[in-house]
Amino acid sequence: MSLTGTAEGVSAKEKLIVALDVATAGEARRLFDALRDSAGMFKVGSQLFTSAGPEFVREIVGAGARVFLDLKFHDIPNTVAAASREAVRLGVSLFDVHAAGGGEMMRRAAEATADEAARLGVNKPGLIAVTVLTSVDAGALAETGVEAGSVEAQVRRLARLADASGCDGVVASPHEIAPVRDSVARAGFLVVTPGVRPAAAAHDDQKRVMSPAGAIRAGADFIVVGRAILNSPDPARAASEVVREMEEA
Ligand code: C5P
Repeated sequence: MSLTGTAEGVSAKEKLIVALDVATAGEARRLFDALRDSAGMFKVGSQLFTSAGPEFVREIVGAGARVFLDLKFHDIPNTVAAASREAVRLGVSLFDVHAAGGGEMMRRAAEATADEAARLGVNKPGLIAVTVLTSVDAGALAETGVEAGSVEAQVRRLARLADASGCDGVVASPHEIAPVRDSVARAGFLVVTPGVRPAAAAHDDQKRVMSPAGAIRAGADFIVVGRAILNSPDPARAASEVVREMEEA
């Protein structure tokens, strides 16, 4: 599967990214072993990366895992470009930056990613940009001084900027998939969607959630699920249930 091509025709399992949001490499390894046949990709975010570091990423990439490195880089363009090169060297399949870091930052990240992948002769990982966090609503945006009018307006603006700056796609809540598709018509533009909750699960701190089937129907290429799987007494079964719900779509 090419990440930067269209994800159509890809199985539901390949579209499920499990967020390994746990504290230690030991816990993450247990989850990876239990879930490796039930999901297409594993997300390493700031908690696990801070505790277990790049060694854990290398370990599971070495074991054949596809990894989404979710560190949401947001810094000066030079630093983000350098960090992007390191993401390529780690062998991840997907990584992200905050679109709010601006066009130049994203452009430099995209150039560095392509350049480093070519230099090493490896597949270029997908570079995606976070538009507005799924835990953020209009009130929280306004608190930070972003008077976009609505979350949707801000998502549209940042999705267009990400596309124009050479990113391969965006991270967006399931409710913003349609506006993103409407704002960026490019075929193959990836939409990765957290804030997905199976029918029976709790919403936790996510403010804009949808079911797995709803997110796929809305046009998500990948869905990210963390707590609804990790907190289940039987994570493999919970993951299979999410895949089954995706297949319904
Ligand atoms: O537990 P839950 O399914 O809510 O986890 C969602 C995951 O997706 C978390 O790791 C969170 O950091 C991540 N994420 C998000 N919203 C974004 C980008 C990433 O929730 N916009």
